[in-house]
Amino acid sequence: MALRERIQAAESYLAERFPAAKFNFDHMVHHKDVPVHRLSWAYYLGGLALFFFVVQIVTGLLLLFHYQPTVSDAHASVEFISEQVPGGALVRNLHAWASSLMIASVFVHLLTTFAMKAFDRPREITWLTGVGLFAVTFVFGFTGYLLPWHQIAVNATKIGLQTIEELGQYLPGGLADLPRAIKETIQGETSVGQATLSRFFALHVIVLPLAMVALLGLHLLAIQLHGMSAGVDEAPRRREKFFPVFFIKDLSLWGAAFMVLFVLGLCLPFDSLFTYPLFEPFNPKGSTPDGIKPEWYFYWIYYPLELLPFWVVMLGQLGLGVVLVGAPWIFRGTSRRTLRVLSAVAAGYLVLMTFFGENVYHLFKG
Ligand code: HEM
Repeated sequence: MALRERIQAAESYLAERFPAAKFNFDHMVHHKDVPVHRLSWAYYLGGLALFFFVVQIVTGLLLLFHYQPTVSDAHASVEFISEQVPGGALVRNLHAWASSLMIASVFVHLLTTFAMKAFDRPREITWLTGVGLFAVTFVFGFTGYLLPWHQIAVNATKIGLQTIEELGQYLPGGLADLPRAIKETIQGETSVGQATLSRFFALHVIVLPLAMVALLGLHLLAIQLHGMSAGVDEAPRRREKFFPVFFIKDLSLWGAAFMVLFVLGLCLPFDSLFTYPLFEPFNPKGSTPDGIKPEWYFYWIYYPLELLPFWVVMLGQLGLGVVLVGAPWIFRGTSRRTLRVLSAVAAGYLVLMTFFGENVYHLFKG
């Protein structure tokens, strides 16, 4: 194909994904409506993830007033926030609960949009920006975990970074050095230390929020331009106006989510759910304590890593990455019924590993 034809093809591809004629308030807000059917509840999940992200920004900004990103002071500063700053314990706890609830909402949102075939033409960019948001959400969790600089945080980060380095064994020729170079760039020095903390802090409070806002902007723009996808194969029973009907329902859900979050934040310290005796400050001279685990949202990959050969899990991850990025093309001809079965299987696997991963581990390893 000649260059001019390629440019024209790219232009018409983008014009279908971002139709300029629809870029107006009337189309994007006034005329937008939402199909009502048995899976309509799933249309609220993206908004729920957005709500928890807003909570993270607000509580994160408040934490920044006292948090110190240095290996000597980080742990003491989070203890100071929890014990001395009025309302500090609540803000920290809200940040911890909202991060988990945001990740849970994003998991369910991904599975339901997949089940409803919402990635289908012309929504490929909505889906791809969603995959980007999914990745950014996980990196948020990974980088945030290190910031309190306690035993479990530092040791779990070391293990996470080692996993990246180990990938090199399975890559051919010049590529074999790439994972180590990536690990060293992230780590910033020979072992996890001040340079690592500074980089994780910069990623967590500047780079990732900017990436998130940029991706989210494109995601929401594409959604408003195309409206909600049909969701199910049958014609919808009826449609309701996006503004004000769906929007008010969205806000009501946000209100309910805020109340649940607030009660949790006030009454149930997030750390109390975990039994690790590892929240004391990191001791660089000590050996790696037992019981080091990542956050619950990494269990779906952590337990397979404990049970299966490393290369099998990495191959699985690669396959998952390809399927996620390629979904709009791989599943173009697949029925919604099949997609729903695939989503249910994936949801079952996530629930099994998250809640019963330890039992599965003991079942196979004794
Ligand atoms: C921080 C993470 C995310 C936020 C805040 C977010 C936000 C939203 C919002 C507000 C909507 C419109 C309401 C709805 O359909 O739920 C939406 C729709 C959508 N999202 Fe996301 N999203 C996120 C992550 C993802 C992920 C991980 C995927 C999938 C890989 C994804 C794919 C989609 C798709 C395909 C739609 C269109 C739904 C339709 O037309 O029926 N999003 N998102």
